[in-house]
Formats: sequence, structure tokens, C-alpha cells
Amino acid sequence: MHKAKVVGAGSYTPETILTNSDLEKVVDTSDAWITRRTGIKERRIATGGMVTSEMAARAARQALEQSDVEAKDLDLVVVGTVTPDRQFPSCACLLQEKIGARKAASMDVSAGCSGFIYALSVANNAIRCGEAEHALVVGAEVLSGVTNWSDRGTCVLLGDGAGAVVLSRTDEDTGIKAVNLRSDGSFGHLLYSVDKLGLQEPAMEIVPGVCEQKPFYLVMDGKPLFKKAVECLEEITRWTLDKAQVKVEELALMVPHQANIRIINALAQRLGLAEDKVYTTIERYGNTSSASIPIALAEAVAGGRLAPRDKLLMVTFGAGLTWGASLVEWSI
Ligand code: UT7
Repeated sequence: MHKAKVVGAGSYTPETILTNSDLEKVVDTSDAWITRRTGIKERRIATGGMVTSEMAARAARQALEQSDVEAKDLDLVVVGTVTPDRQFPSCACLLQEKIGARKAASMDVSAGCSGFIYALSVANNAIRCGEAEHALVVGAEVLSGVTNWSDRGTCVLLGDGAGAVVLSRTDEDTGIKAVNLRSDGSFGHLLYSVDKLGLQEPAMEIVPGVCEQKPFYLVMDGKPLFKKAVECLEEITRWTLDKAQVKVEELALMVPHQANIRIINALAQRLGLAEDKVYTTIERYGNTSSASIPIALAEAVAGGRLAPRDKLLMVTFGAGLTWGASLVEWSI
């Protein structure tokens, strides 16, 4: 069986910054509340027609530049997203065209905020079984487009962005050591979209000759989700460390999904992981769903936070409910 290793990482976040003070003018909230309850100070918002596939392409080009892999050599493009430009073609196919990955098979993976780790699992398995030699794995979201801007319980949390990694086959004893995925649909009511396909409401009202589409936005029951997140993140982290035969104290860095600084701190505390081993971007970007881990990872790499042979843990949690983790021995 082959192995997959990360050979490049990149990210893109839009230039427009929406601060907590800006949000005070939109809903009944305050910088103090948002900072204390979430750790978020500001988030990026895609403007001027910026779509998910374009942000994905910018992150992907950066990741490819860091590697020796050219877009034309990619065998697989997998995008984790819940906000593709359109239902079809997939965001991955639009991305493939933008970067010129002509021989790749391309697909989207929908797994809420776990989209990147789910996509990583698909690409890792394709490389392990010999179906692919080089793969691009992306998490990209325009959450501002599915935000209910009158709901202060959710609109203060979300942001836009994209992150990408390039994976290549290796026969060395390094790279991705474990990926574990879980889901439990019985908790789907805690975080869901009210959308054009009519999940919770009959969204298409067919009046003779008229097709009225209701807006697409996100609904969340934050408190029980918070509790479930901490439990699931701890469970999947311990399972993944066991599978990779790595102890918590051997970890060089944990890059968790950036949903709430209190969730991240609770996880680190339960694991007994020192604060300086946890990489966070939530203060600057908020929750960017599938994009949050690869954005943070690319920044950590650019900032020199990972050296060859370092043990990296990525762990996530999101709508579905879905959760997942990966243990990687760093190799660039
Ligand atoms: O990425 C996918 C996974 N996402 C998550 O796991 C998110 C998990 N949940 C959370 O992060 C937190 O539950 C939230 C940040 C969403 C909310 O924090 P909380 O500490 O659970 O607050 P709460 O919902 O219990 O609300 C506490 C109070 C309420 O007021 P009362 O009823 O005590 O008077 C809310 O109405 O805070 C109020 N509140 C706000 N106040 C100012 C809720 N949102 C806001 C706001 N600004 N934006």
C-alpha cells in the first residue's frame, strides 16, 4: 500500500474585512460579547462577485507553487464545500478548469465544516490504493452568501475564504498516518440550511407560471452544538492518536476547526495540550467552515510552525453532524 504526503499548502482570504464594530451596526450585538463568547474580532467577506471556485483557485495555485507538482499532473481534485458556486457543475470541476488540471477527476464533498478532512480522506485513499499519484484537496466557502444577517446568533460567527493542500504518493515512512471520519444524522437539526431544495420548509412555491425561490441561509442551535462539538472532537482526537500510535505530548501542532475559541480551549484542556501547540486564526477570520483548517495550516506552514517529522493533528466538527481528524507526519 502506498502513502500520501502533503507537498504544498496555500490559502486565500478576501480583502474586505468586517469587524465586530461593523456588526454592531447590523444587529444588536457588541464587540465585547463576540470577543468574550467566541474569540472572533473580525472576518473576511467575499465581495465584487468573488465566488467559491475563484477563491479555491487562488489557494490552489499557492499550494501548487510550494510543491513540485504542476496542475496538469493532478489526478484528482476534491473540494470540501457547502457553498459551491452552483449545484452543478461541481465547484471542483470549475476549479479544475481555472487552474488547468486537465487530466484530473474532480468532485465536491459536502460534510459541513468537516468538508476538508472528508476531502482529505477521499484523496488519501485514492493515493493509497494507487488510483492517483497527485491530488489537490481544498476547503472553500462563501458563507456570507448563506448567512441570515438578522440573526445575531449566527451572523457574527461566519466568514469567507479558501485553503488547499497538494498530496503526492510516497513510499517513505512519512506523511498521512491516519484519517478518521464520523457522522451522526440524528443531530442534523442542530445546524442546517433552509434552502432552495426545501429541507425544512417547502422552498419552491409553484404558483401558476411562477417559481418563487426562498433564500438559502443557515440555522444553528449553538448551545447543544457546542457541547456535542467538545465531546466529539475529544473522542475523534483520541481515536486518531491511538490509530497513529502517537501520544498527545508528541504533537508539535494541532490545527483544529475554528468555530469558537472556547471550543478549541476546552479541547486542548481535555487533551492536556499546551496553548502554544494550538494554531488559531479565529480572531481574524471567524468560522469559515471547510476552509478553516487549510487556511490555518497554510499560515502555520508559512510562519515556520512545522518542520519535517513534526506530528500534526487536524480535527474538525460540523453540520451533519460530521466530525473527523487526521494525524500527519510533516514532510516539507
Ligand atoms: O462550525 C460548526 C460548529 N459550530 C459550533 O460548534 C458552534 C457552537 N456554538 C457556539 O459557538 C456558541 O453556542 C455560540 C457562540 C453560538 C453562542 O454562545 P453561547 O455562549 O452558547 O450563547 P447563547 O446562545 O447561550 O446566548 C447567551 C445570551 C442570550 O441572551 P439571554 O437569553 O441570556 O438574554 C443570547 O440571546 O447571549 C445572547 N446572544 C448575543 N448577545 C450579543 C446571542 N448571540 C449574541 C450576539 N451578541 N451576537
